Amino acid sequence: MYDSPDWHQDLVDEASALFAHENALSASAFPSVQQFESEAISMVASVIAPGVDAYGVFTSGGTESIMVAMKGYRDLPGNASRRRLVMPVTAHPGFWKAADYLGLSVELVPVGIDGLPSVSDILAAVDESTAAVCLSAPCFPYGVVDPVEEVGAALQGTGVGLHVDAAMGGLFLPFLDAAGTTPPKFSIDVPGVTSVSVDMHKYGYGMKGGSVLLFSSRELRHASYYVSNDWPGGAYAASGVLGTRPVGPAAAAWTALSALGRDGYSQLVADVMTTARKLQRGLERNGLEVIGAPPMGVFAAASSGPAIPAIAGALGERGWWIDTQEVPPSLHVVTFPRHAEVADEFLDDVAWAVGRAASADTPAEAGMSYGVMVRGGRIDDQVLREHLDERFTVGG
Ligand SMILES: Cc1ncc(COP(=O)(O)O)c(C=O)c1O
Repeated sequence: MYDSPDWHQDLVDEASALFAHENALSASAFPSVQQFESEAISMVASVIAPGVDAYGVFTSGGTESIMVAMKGYRDLPGNASRRRLVMPVTAHPGFWKAADYLGLSVELVPVGIDGLPSVSDILAAVDESTAAVCLSAPCFPYGVVDPVEEVGAALQGTGVGLHVDAAMGGLFLPFLDAAGTTPPKFSIDVPGVTSVSVDMHKYGYGMKGGSVLLFSSRELRHASYYVSNDWPGGAYAASGVLGTRPVGPAAAAWTALSALGRDGYSQLVADVMTTARKLQRGLERNGLEVIGAPPMGVFAAASSGPAIPAIAGALGERGWWIDTQEVPPSLHVVTFPRHAEVADEFLDDVAWAVGRAASADTPAEAGMSYGVMVRGGRIDDQVLREHLDERFTVGG
């Protein structure tokens, strides 16, 4: 996933392996981690937040960045009575997980058929108990970018934070001009935005286990830390959820950013967008409809003809693994550079699959979704727990 050119992949692998045995918990014992993390943070900030103060931390991924950011909002001095998070339903479940772990509550705002929440719905859900509003750039389900500038302008000076989850878009959206479109603004250089997260292991083309979280103030970053000073074993200071963690992902992130540079990222964005547009046009030629106006190569396509599970099932017969979503029923695509090689073959098979789904009683291979594969039947919480049990069962 998120494949990069072979030379880049090899370089990142090598950098990661070189530092696999060092422990990023202690920058005093392993000074290389300090250099990798601080310079990776500074390089990301130079792309997404040029000219503004940025206070970053390096985490193990999108979920940990969310968790750490939400801890910052919870523990920010003056926020003791602010225990709610407001977000569109399309925000990543990592926010719900963070709220669950941190004892916060979540207020969900609906989205329209374009996948976007209305600014007035978001603002109507905000009150004096709101710690932060959480938006996405883009959201995973439909790949559309939430109204960051409008919400930021309204929240500025209210004491309510605004976190933007740019896990997927952080190192993609800023380079969209290479693909002929104007990049949307989404980061802490937008008035009112107080934190933003960007995953190195997605379109940053680093190694799994790397994300950069930027805060707009040192105070917020301090509130996100966990420190303790009265343990017999000595002082403990951790910037994230994990304790011992590898330096490899930070070395890989530093290497990816240094090796690709602005030109490398621009080229990859241009390549991915060429393929994404081809896929979108091809799907639309076959009667599917792209939801909303996704600016990146992440999008969903609904069907006004044959049922989506039947189309996905038929594609499965031809060996394609494609995620499906239920609201509305849609195929979900995250375009990677390597998809350029298979886009034509895929679209040929889409034409075949739509025909087959329309004519035959294709078994509805439902439930291939976001890393979870449950065959048939209803997916409820218990089924999902059992799905996880299987993960830890030998031969399961
Ligand atoms: C928008 C968004 N936010 C957060 C995450 C969570 O990231 P991770 O799986 O690295 O924890 C994802 C993962 O797909 C995502 O798409």
